[in-house]
Amino acid sequence: MSTEKSLYQPNPEFAKNAYIPSMDAYWELQNRAIEDYEGFWKGFADEKIDWLAPYDKVLDESNAPFYEWFTNGKLNVSNQCIDRHLADKADKTAILFEGDRGDVEKITYAQLSQRVNKMANLLKNEFGVTKGDRVVLYMPMIPEAAYAMLACARIGAVHSIVFGGFSAEALKDRIEDAQAKIVITADGAYRKGKPYLLKNVVDDALFRGGESIEAVLVVKRNNEPIEWVEGRDHNYNELIRSQSDVCPFEIMDSEDPLFLLYTSGSTGKPKGVQHSSAGFILWAQMTTEWVFDVKGDDIFWCTADVGWITGHTYIVYGPLAAGTTTVMFEGVPIYPDAGRAWKMVQDHKITQFYTAPTAIRVLHKMGKDEPKKYDLSSLKVLGTVGEPIDPAAWKWYYETVGNSKCAIVDTWWQTETGGHIITPLPGATPIKPGCATFALPGIMTEILSYEGISKEAGEPGLLCITKPWPSMIRNIWGDPERYKKAYFGDVAKDGKPVYFSGDGAVADEAGYITIVGRVDDVINVSGHRMGTAEIEAAVKEDNSVAEVAVVGCPHDIKGESIFIYIVLKEGHINADIKNHINELLATEIGNIAKADHIIEVPGLPKTRSGKIMRRILRSIAKHEEITQDISTLEDPSIVKQIETTAREA
Ligand code: WTA
Repeated sequence: MSTEKSLYQPNPEFAKNAYIPSMDAYWELQNRAIEDYEGFWKGFADEKIDWLAPYDKVLDESNAPFYEWFTNGKLNVSNQCIDRHLADKADKTAILFEGDRGDVEKITYAQLSQRVNKMANLLKNEFGVTKGDRVVLYMPMIPEAAYAMLACARIGAVHSIVFGGFSAEALKDRIEDAQAKIVITADGAYRKGKPYLLKNVVDDALFRGGESIEAVLVVKRNNEPIEWVEGRDHNYNELIRSQSDVCPFEIMDSEDPLFLLYTSGSTGKPKGVQHSSAGFILWAQMTTEWVFDVKGDDIFWCTADVGWITGHTYIVYGPLAAGTTTVMFEGVPIYPDAGRAWKMVQDHKITQFYTAPTAIRVLHKMGKDEPKKYDLSSLKVLGTVGEPIDPAAWKWYYETVGNSKCAIVDTWWQTETGGHIITPLPGATPIKPGCATFALPGIMTEILSYEGISKEAGEPGLLCITKPWPSMIRNIWGDPERYKKAYFGDVAKDGKPVYFSGDGAVADEAGYITIVGRVDDVINVSGHRMGTAEIEAAVKEDNSVAEVAVVGCPHDIKGESIFIYIVLKEGHINADIKNHINELLATEIGNIAKADHIIEVPGLPKTRSGKIMRRILRSIAKHEEITQDISTLEDPSIVKQIETTAREA
């Protein structure tokens, strides 16, 4: 149970001016949402969105679970993020870019407007990109990535960003699934002081397939030599010069898709999570304000990559909709040394710093006292996302980085939720380390059983969201059946299907929610989501492999690492199997999918009906004692054999 004493109270000075200054204020908002759900959302939608035509209905549930928000309302997200700020923020820095090699560029809202308008014109006039077309971005962390996103939003094209760590094969799959018309990429960028390449991966992807692509637009960042396909490849830096900086924005419907973002689930191939325009941008802005409390001259830094949802919502859309200054960083926080991030905080007087537990663990391990060498007094709010944060990392982050005066917002959310769901509020919530605390006002979460029964305090259960919310996923691109099944197929409450996140959670007597982790077959490596099914499919490409099972295994730095069990086909001996499988994973998915452990076993633990008992494999990977009943296995003796092999490996 949470006792007042074990909680970290908000800094009273900070709370005074916070958006949500107390738990009373929190409850006032949340009770308003409980009493009048649509009225609650209407109030914020009217306040925050520059409607070009009014909506008729706040929430349309008639075609559940295909919920619609702000039906028939008209807006444009690039107007939300740029144009409407020009009256009073034209000269304010919108994007503060720092390159890997220390080069800094400050892009004002006026400049952002010019560059986004030019890029929108380029896409429209040179490549015929129009409303509804899909545009794939395979980009480094440079401002042009944000321009491209906003240019798409301006002309109504749907962007689909593929993280630069994904392989050519994975890029090709995503291009094909979305039937994209154009790819925007860069020659490459810089990491740890050295140039690296991206364009070659696009070339390879288009060699493998991706026939829908008509053009590749290449931003020159590092000017490394690259291959050039005449007629297909186009030089952004040259073409952009002659574009007009006036491109009237398209009038978009609330429900028009803003972007797709592919993410892994427990089965099958990655799915294209489809987000809306109005609901998404509303919640992106509201959570940026509430959770990070950005205001005035704040400088907000989210260290994610734009290839992940965190980069979408909290590098680009949320901060810009809120009219703040957002930092974009090309490099890694440990180069040239473990003080890089802290030096950036000092140099730019960063006020909010948002990162992943993995990064905190690395920074802690590599430079425990490093933060003390820098002036970090500008910091007000620290945030984490992507995985549970362990108490040791939390404590260091709180005491050494935040000087025991900054709240840590441990934000739980997902690609599918579009924005934060459960998180402390920096001016209100008494914080329990490692605990995501409470659902935000307007969000109705419950911890349920598969039968839809609420769990008691202390009892772990399935983390569900029982009412639709504006920034929720709208569909899986091209696969509405899968959308229904993946998110609304497992849990129903009072007969009504509810959104199940795939995570387990537990609440204490005071209602504090702690995330337990995924209960499905999704692995979280350094905050990167990967499906075991996807990894298994890649491993099966090796023709000496008869059977494979993939599980997650706890890892000090990465949170989880990939652990693979393989059974070779009879008569096959493959001395180099481990390297070969890791090469395959790098080719099929990307380097992030490489396994730490690959062991060859004589068989897998299966029930008589042929189902692989992953729980047993998870216990073995963790060197835990097997407590499950193994008598129902087809061959119980296999467990001992696997354990012995695992121990020797
Ligand atoms: C996990 C990232 C514990 C969780 C925004 C979720 C977390 C998955 C937290 C989504 C947190 C995210 N504490 N676990 N604060 N935040 N997760 O789609 O398992 O890349 O389902 O979105 O990350 O990962 P995704």
